[in-house]
Amino acid sequence: MINCKNLEKVFDKTPVVSDLNLSIKSGEIYGFLGPNGAGKTTTIKMLTGTLKPTAGQVSILNLDYARDEMLIKSKIGVVPDEPRIYSYFSGMEFLEFIMDVFPEKRAEAKKRVGEMCEAFGVNYLGKMISEMSHGMKQKIMVISVLMRRPEVIFLDEPTVGLDARSAKILKMLLEKYKNEGSTIFMTTHVLEIAQKMCDRIGIINRGRLISEGTMDELRKRAGAGEDESLEDLFLQLTGENDDIQEIVNAL
Ligand SMILES: Nc1ncnc2c1ncn2[C@@H]1O[C@H](COP(=O)(O)OP(=O)(O)OP(=O)(O)O)[C@@H](O)[C@H]1O
Ligand SMILES: [Mg+2]
Repeated sequence: MINCKNLEKVFDKTPVVSDLNLSIKSGEIYGFLGPNGAGKTTTIKMLTGTLKPTAGQVSILNLDYARDEMLIKSKIGVVPDEPRIYSYFSGMEFLEFIMDVFPEKRAEAKKRVGEMCEAFGVNYLGKMISEMSHGMKQKIMVISVLMRRPEVIFLDEPTVGLDARSAKILKMLLEKYKNEGSTIFMTTHVLEIAQKMCDRIGIINRGRLISEGTMDELRKRAGAGEDESLEDLFLQLTGENDDIQEIVNAL
């Protein structure tokens, strides 16, 4: 469903994603983890056709952007890292606008909007986007994507700004969609979410994939015990664990 080969992005002569190979199967939840600045958002942008790779190939649903960009974009959904929505829409106008962009899903989406708003406690569709808090906008963004039930869903830190109830509903919805055949690619810094939800995890550091697999595979590869948490594994694999205590002591 999601494939990339030797994917690379160079900004101002600095490589920020290097030689990245991913292959994600139908019905998988794939967690893409890494420290700040590791290249996760850059990768999502290249996989979703909003940023041109410097080198390498991307194919989504066995289609490639050079030939089938519009078709791919009609089949995927993207929740970006920031809910950037045109400020002078009301919530409902934005959702209607998205339905106009994807008219083939209009009837289905329209039916789902009411249910999703109720689930996420969105009772402010008449409010202007510019008057909404970050979390309020994030919920509108999530609804605008999930109401279409895309076959492949990309989410860049989707729970940031969501309250506990909304985050839980989002997690449960994603698991439900996965069980019904959607493929999900998400980044998160909340390692409990990744550990609980993801079938496979990829860890990127300084633009390179340094480990990939199920939780068990990651543990085995790192020589860790069965009950080692993803947090400890992650810090060990990214080499960020050693000096933490010293830093805290020094502060
Ligand atoms: N448009 C740009 N121009 C120049 N450099 C960029 C640009 N976008 C991203 N970068 C650089 O690419 C690197 C990777 O950034 P990216 O946003 O992909 O990280 P990330 O893994 O998503 O981090 P975070 O966890 O903080 O969201 C960073 O060093 C960043 O400064
Ligand atoms: Mg990011």
